[in-house]
Amino acid sequence: MRTDDLTPTIDAPSPDELHGLWQRVVGRRSFLKSVGIAGAAAVPAAGVLSAGTALAAGSGPTRGDIAILRFLAAAEILESDLWSQYNELGGVDGGNPAYMAALQNLDSDMPQYIADNTDDELSHAAFINAYLRSKGAEPVSLERFRRLSGSSATGAKGVKRLTNLKQLNVDTSWYTRYRSGSNPDFGATFPQAVTIKHQPAIPLSDQDTPPNTTIPSPVPPGSDPHALRMQAIANTAGFHFAMIEQGGSSLYTTLSLKASSLEVLRIVVSIGGVETNHFSLWHDKAGNAVSQPLAGVTDPETGLHFPDLNAPKSEALQTNLILPEPCEFISPALPQCSIVRPTSDALGGARAAVKGLTADGLFDGQHPDFFRFITRLADEADAAQRHVR
Ligand SMILES: [Fe+2]
Ligand SMILES: [Fe+2]
Repeated sequence: MRTDDLTPTIDAPSPDELHGLWQRVVGRRSFLKSVGIAGAAAVPAAGVLSAGTALAAGSGPTRGDIAILRFLAAAEILESDLWSQYNELGGVDGGNPAYMAALQNLDSDMPQYIADNTDDELSHAAFINAYLRSKGAEPVSLERFRRLSGSSATGAKGVKRLTNLKQLNVDTSWYTRYRSGSNPDFGATFPQAVTIKHQPAIPLSDQDTPPNTTIPSPVPPGSDPHALRMQAIANTAGFHFAMIEQGGSSLYTTLSLKASSLEVLRIVVSIGGVETNHFSLWHDKAGNAVSQPLAGVTDPETGLHFPDLNAPKSEALQTNLILPEPCEFISPALPQCSIVRPTSDALGGARAAVKGLTADGLFDGQHPDFFRFITRLADEADAAQRHVR
């Protein structure tokens, strides 16, 4: 990796290259089919960057900017890996009918949203790595850590994974945090909305949850145990989707405050806004698992229970209060403000993200070298400092 000023060396794209790039941008629905992670990384970086972008010499990314982007590239590759697992089983072209039906109990459009969120993460990972390459910096690859076994259920591709969705500890405190007028950056803590410990968010196998199980809408108590378990798995996924994306919202906002190059800042805030967009969507869908008519599902195997959070009604739990409640910000002396939170290094930074995802169980089974690598990237990103030149 080069240091400090990384002056861009960019060739203007040919009309054919520009056309190809535009097709990639507008061909959203075909993105997943046409470009895997490895394929996406092969997008010609120089062409992507030179489309309307001109940086003055001396204004290029700093060492800190590169560290921020390298951690974000790793985070996006991990997001791509987990979202791809959800997409294979429950996306619009998903292959597990019972899982898809259970997800559709949360919202009939869930498979489309899952496919599009996956598509977005793949684009984030490919873009950031291509940008790094265009600046002479080292892109990030986690391929050597792709060694975990995923689901064996119908629909799942039998490939090795980076992330483990089979026994998650989903931190659901984002639900109560975003309904509160208190801010974690001021020391506030928040209770779990639902306790989800060591639970699968994807069907594990066809023996555990047969793919052709009929999933009623809703799944009432006393239903086929396979249907109840599949609904609990889909509900866990719904809460996990929001957990991941609210984490991305905080991470991008926190790291944006460390960017020096205006162009890197533009990348961080522009992708970060989409993470928040995702979070808002999933916040709404998760609420459907804990409101009528769906609330009350209990996994017959693990006892995981999704209560009705509207009974009794309270502002701390009400399911349709999905937009961020104003909270304290900057100073308690200032008026409360509706914001992304946390955005402190300690709670919203790269190291905090690694800590949170590790506690989630997302990396269960990963090699110690993986943790060493991701922690080093996180430390370097958190150490970045904004320099205005
Ligand atoms: Fe992303
Ligand atoms: Fe995301």
